[in-house]
Amino acid sequence: MIPLITLNNGITMPQLGLGIYDPQPDQDIKQAVLWAFELGYRLVDTAAAYKNEREVGQAMRASGLSREEIFVTTKVQNGDQGFEPTLRAFEESLRQLNTDYVDLYLIHWPVKEHRLATWKALEKIYAEGKARAIGVSNYYIPHFEELWPEAEIIPAVNQFELSPYCYLPEQLAYCRQRGIQVEGYAPLVRGLKANDPRLVQLAEKYGKSTFQVLIRWSLQQSAITIPKSVSKSRLAANIDVFDFTLSTEDMAEMNTWHDNTRVADDPTEY
Ligand SMILES: NC(=O)c1ccc[n+]([C@@H]2O[C@H](COP(=O)([O-])OP(=O)(O)OC[C@H]3O[C@@H](n4cnc5c(N)ncnc54)[C@H](OP(=O)(O)O)[C@@H]3O)[C@@H](O)[C@H]2O)c1
Repeated sequence: MIPLITLNNGITMPQLGLGIYDPQPDQDIKQAVLWAFELGYRLVDTAAAYKNEREVGQAMRASGLSREEIFVTTKVQNGDQGFEPTLRAFEESLRQLNTDYVDLYLIHWPVKEHRLATWKALEKIYAEGKARAIGVSNYYIPHFEELWPEAEIIPAVNQFELSPYCYLPEQLAYCRQRGIQVEGYAPLVRGLKANDPRLVQLAEKYGKSTFQVLIRWSLQQSAITIPKSVSKSRLAANIDVFDFTLSTEDMAEMNTWHDNTRVADDPTEY
């Protein structure tokens, strides 16, 4: 049901997955991931910084799915960046996830002093076959321009904030032109825009929720998208987005809504 996207190294990645950043410590992450698998999700986006890799790993084991059926992403956190620290942090992520490889390993944020050495560590991890793909997160054009002279491998993915309210077409075009797959985070803007009358009107037009319209917008940007939920009904709603298409006119209209609303830091500050 969920389309697969082929990355620049030939591997495939589901276009829609579960983001599992959890700002509330009491949420049952293992249960949410298990429900997601039951509903048909196969991509899970975690990070060392989310402190829930262990629960994600437990759900992977308990799901009954084979490891090859699951696509798990994790990320090196800022305090672990640098060549040797990243190699150590990666091993710890494998231990927490209880797996011997990850599908995608990302630099979580472009920490100025360490990002080049961190990328070299990711290249080593990739060369050793411990990550099926490597990429970056929160990279904008200047971060890539700095990376090119050092990089032997072009990142497979760039994960950054993407919604109609945080829509920077030049960043998308730059990645597309270089074969870097865009993965958009916070597609639902954490609910901040659920009552935007323009969005409500579109939701009524398509007979969908405002959240489903936002997910559909991301998919139609050719992005991979990772809405987060720990509720079974909302997990189900968030993948029930393949039975409608936003018209070219409505996409163009939504593309004018950019007001720089962000749930996370602006990468230009890094
Ligand atoms: N690389 C990075 O720096 C970075 C930064 C931010 C996020 N991310 C990744 O992107 C993922 C998604 O972003 P996000 O978690 O920040 O925000 P989001 O997915 O835009 O929004 C999540 C919020 O929306 C609620 N929600 C989900 N589906 C809903 C629905 N159908 N109806 C009503 N409410 C709904 C969730 O509550 P419930 O859980 O209660 O349903 C949660 O409060 C993260 O979990 C993380 O994996 C990466």
